[in-house]
Amino acid sequence: MALLRKKIISANWKMNITASEVSPYLTAFLEEIKGINEVDVILIPSFTSLPKTSELLSSLQGIRLGAQNISSHDKGAFTGEISAVMLRDLFVHHVLIGHSERRHLFGETNTIIHEKMKISHLNQMNPILCVGETLEERRSGKEKQVIEHQLREAFSGLSVNQITHTMIAYEPVWAIGTGQTASVEQAQEAHFFIRSLIEELSDASVSQKIRLLYGGSVTPENSEELLSAPDIDGALVGSASLDPRSFAKIVVQAQRNCTKE
Ligand code: PGA
Repeated sequence: MALLRKKIISANWKMNITASEVSPYLTAFLEEIKGINEVDVILIPSFTSLPKTSELLSSLQGIRLGAQNISSHDKGAFTGEISAVMLRDLFVHHVLIGHSERRHLFGETNTIIHEKMKISHLNQMNPILCVGETLEERRSGKEKQVIEHQLREAFSGLSVNQITHTMIAYEPVWAIGTGQTASVEQAQEAHFFIRSLIEELSDASVSQKIRLLYGGSVTPENSEELLSAPDIDGALVGSASLDPRSFAKIVVQAQRNCTKE
């Protein structure tokens, strides 16, 4: 029997939703997801909205908090950086590492991403490692090569236990914020490839346990089909997560998808 991996739906609010907007958002969102208990939900606000979101989520089971970035340093003279310990203090359990906007707009290299992976694991934060190719790389048939390189660098030297406690988001750069979603076939092929590589980097049981998310223009209209692919265990949602009702629809569909399996 195939191992059932719990679906996970994560909202990446990026540089949107202020601290004072969190409460009305959560009121609307929680109303829409009543009775949903078979899906893991992660909210990833901006740093300034983290304390408020953390406070409001503290009495709720089942919704976890993530951060959009983490410093690769422990502490000290690093103006503008946020450390793992600071995030843990706000009950943050997850952190996005290597998001394509960090890689492409802020020059994060695979080396920096590797450092961030190490520091988040050392602090018991479960990273959501983002990988994915640009349009040029896909057009020249290099997508697997790029994904493999990103994964090998990020996981280099990590223990099997640390790999197990990582989630991977496959986010083709050309699909992020563009309205152009990868087809289910393209996404499934990439996810299958990632799972096979994880088996090589750890073992078969880890590769069957690790959860792989798809990200890139996920909406309530396309999420059901994407989530039905065998190796897609969830979604990382940007634009469509800014509206609590549209994000809730994706969560509800994920639950429906679990109960179908
Ligand atoms: P999008 O963003 O859903 O707006 O494409 C996804 C992401 O960047 O994580």
